[in-house]
Amino acid sequence: MRSLIEEERLKYKPHLPRCLRDVSALEVVEGEPTEALGNREKIKELLSKTYGQPVVQFKEGATKTHAALRVGVVLSGGQAAGGHNVISGLFDALKKMHPDCRLFGFLGGPSGIVENQYIELTEGVLADYRNTGGFDLIGSGRTKIETPEQLESSRKNVDALNLNGLVIVGGDDSNTNAAILAEYFLSHDSHTHVVGVPKTIDGDLKNVHVETSFGFDTACKTYAEMIGNIERDALSAKKYYHFIKLMGRSASHITLECALQTHPNVTLIGEEAAAKKMTLQEITNQITDVICERAKLGKNYGVVLIPEGLIEFVPEMKQLIHELNTLMAKHVEDAVGNLSEKARETFSFLPKEIGDQLLLDRDPHGNVQVSHISTEQLLIHTVKKALQARSDYKGKFTPVNHFFGYEGRSCFPSNFDADYCYSLGFAAAVLIDSGHTGYMSVVHKLSQPVEEWEVGGIPITMLMNMEERKGKLKAVIQKALVDLEGDPFKLFALHRDSWSIEDHYRFPGPIQLFASASISNESTFTLKLEQHVEVCI
Ligand code: FBP
Repeated sequence: MRSLIEEERLKYKPHLPRCLRDVSALEVVEGEPTEALGNREKIKELLSKTYGQPVVQFKEGATKTHAALRVGVVLSGGQAAGGHNVISGLFDALKKMHPDCRLFGFLGGPSGIVENQYIELTEGVLADYRNTGGFDLIGSGRTKIETPEQLESSRKNVDALNLNGLVIVGGDDSNTNAAILAEYFLSHDSHTHVVGVPKTIDGDLKNVHVETSFGFDTACKTYAEMIGNIERDALSAKKYYHFIKLMGRSASHITLECALQTHPNVTLIGEEAAAKKMTLQEITNQITDVICERAKLGKNYGVVLIPEGLIEFVPEMKQLIHELNTLMAKHVEDAVGNLSEKARETFSFLPKEIGDQLLLDRDPHGNVQVSHISTEQLLIHTVKKALQARSDYKGKFTPVNHFFGYEGRSCFPSNFDADYCYSLGFAAAVLIDSGHTGYMSVVHKLSQPVEEWEVGGIPITMLMNMEERKGKLKAVIQKALVDLEGDPFKLFALHRDSWSIEDHYRFPGPIQLFASASISNESTFTLKLEQHVEVCI
């Protein structure tokens, strides 16, 4: 039986921007041709048919007639709150354009396209999933469609289904895959157009055109609630140091947003550690200094936030991980035995369980799975040692470790994500209907009220450059890391010293789904600061 919240949530009607109110009366306005971010000639050569297309924007226009389209949709990669609303938005927009449009959902992620596993998505099927979290409607997966056989069977399957469009909902790697499929389908006389949708809790798929990826808002608010609860517990019991690792892969966007929301005593930002070339010892000292200062005031408690990607930014760890990734991509049996002397030294310094975690299977893109490395436990270990070596430290260090990750990915989407995803689904339908391929649907002015949002599409090639993957140079979408010159980091840097010794904890509380718009529609600090909207922390 459904919970009362679930019942109420199914009835929520996502808000739409003004420009999408009448989807059958839209003008698609094209801008200037675009260029890739870097290695332009190479990317142009690899993706010659889809390279350089213009940015497009939707404006209210005259009513048009629309064809009965057949569209496929797939959810790719990690869950992010709002995926079901992208599908609902896509479905509703298609049905508004022509009642005979049909939508098919590929099952279990991109492998569903390769293996032709799909279901038809109807109003009846969707009725139980509107505004719900998770990706369980059609599932997700991390298969990358890259071999000639996978590309060809994907083409055959979308052609057999006679699809006009395929919508790929995913992060940077999945949208890179969308660009490759778009190019492949065009070059092999398939009439299926491919459109990507920016998804990932990590917040690292963003630039001037993609203001945020969906799921970031809900994940940060979920973690911030939990961090605030822990801060209040720490303040009450006054006996534990909580070391909290937060999901987010390489980028520290989630950690930065949660720090702005909750004001913990120590927050590590991977990108800053990289810029300052901080060693593990220096990071340990940074935490230890705060613990010692607080102990002098009789405070033997506190909260430390650690981004899961930190480990990849520490120079000696970065080198070790890079060498291991390369050796493991080549399937070298004794990867540790084949490390350089320096990397082997780093490896042998690590506690055994951390070393074992570094040797676990790589993800399909050849990257170490940072969510499986207990960086919070590694730091507890190094801090403990450092405290023992400090003769002036008279405090009591009782650490507790936490990892907040999966619990923020499949919860009910915040109103922001529910509305944003619904609009992204609409935008994907319009892009397919207007014959665009190799595009990503985008929404602008997200810190403004929904009515004001602007909607359109950008060619995926304009987000690409060449990077090393599995030891080879590949055309990929560039990940957006925390900008140390950006307003969110600068505001954090301005306040963090005062948060370290005095306790200025902030308690954001649970996500509000049914409160007044000023509370339930509030966007993240990150988004507001990036769009120069005044915030009060
Ligand atoms: P996406 O980039 O696919 O959105 O996934 C994000 C993420 O949640 C990361 O934050 C995390 O490191 C990773 O997925 C965990 O992957 P898995 O779900 O395979 O354990």
